[in-house]
Amino acid sequence: MPHAGDAVTPVREASGSAELRQAAEVARAALTLDSGEGPALVDRLANSPAGRRWTALVIDGGVVMASVSGKDPAVGHIDLLAVHPEVQGRGHGRELVRAAEEWLRSVGVRQARFAGNPPCYAWPGIDVRYTAAACLAESLGYERYHMAWNMTADLGTDLSVDDDLARLAQRGVHVHTAEQGRKRVAGFVREHWNENWAWEAINAAGLHYAERDGRILGFAAWGARPAWFGPMGTAPEARELGVGGVLLRRCLADMRAAGQTSAQISWVGPLRFYSRAVGARAERVFWLYRRDLA
Ligand SMILES: CC(C)(COP(=O)(O)OP(=O)(O)OC[C@H]1O[C@@H](n2cnc3c(N)ncnc32)[C@H](O)[C@@H]1OP(=O)(O)O)[C@@H](O)C(=O)NCCC(=O)NCCS
Repeated sequence: MPHAGDAVTPVREASGSAELRQAAEVARAALTLDSGEGPALVDRLANSPAGRRWTALVIDGGVVMASVSGKDPAVGHIDLLAVHPEVQGRGHGRELVRAAEEWLRSVGVRQARFAGNPPCYAWPGIDVRYTAAACLAESLGYERYHMAWNMTADLGTDLSVDDDLARLAQRGVHVHTAEQGRKRVAGFVREHWNENWAWEAINAAGLHYAERDGRILGFAAWGARPAWFGPMGTAPEARELGVGGVLLRRCLADMRAAGQTSAQISWVGPLRFYSRAVGARAERVFWLYRRDLA
């Protein structure tokens, strides 16, 4: 770790896994609201969907990751920014954002955003409590253009589903864990929603689905964004059967078994459904920022 007075090397592209591992440790130390998820987030972003253009730029004690939107190649995303607490306040953050903008410009991007680049993202935007990051964005001329939020579910709650499974079985609906057969579930997700959600289903840590007579009716996934729940969906023909609540609780039970005491329900979404199903509350709020690159 550099100390006050040390000469700082300029921003450079992270070369190889050793530098990415160092960047991961910087992220762990800086991302104090993300319970040690920094390394998993760096790893997730470094394994983004095939064809996505992305970069990781580092400076001693700092990292920024940026990518080009899959939807609009003129839009770029600053996916992750972290400066080690020991060297914050010395201009590293500003320099990293400038370097990310330069990289984005060099690959044809005309607007940079502090906003998640679905389906592979760390956050929907800047968590308002990472206030220094919001100040940095604003001081660099970024405009706040949107807001997003997560919900939090405490995992100490009752997540049993046995009665619901029996009730669903009486109506011919059966619920499974997709250990194998992920591609089939992803096909259902693609047909009813979009390619982004299908990628998340394939890349989830856990995936559950419901079916009747060989037809998939609904799915729920967690861990595509490390440690967070989502996405989930029930086909229109199967709404109001209680399928969604069961799939949600099965995922949350997995997350509890993986050692989590609470779950972030990502980038919602239907407040009332999650509030009623598992007593979730709106909690993390994210501001999305954008700036046209000259
Ligand atoms: C946000 C962060 C990357 C800034 O890095 P940094 O190297 O400390 O920032 P710099 O020294 O380059 O400061 C640049 C600007 O950031 C803002 N800033 C930095 N520290 C700040 C603080 N403590 N309070 C308010 N604004 C602050 C200011 O706008 C500052 O410029 P100004 O003082 O001229 O207005 C760093 O604080 C960090 O890693 N925070 C935790 C992780 C995080 O929030 N990441 C973003 C997640 S989306």
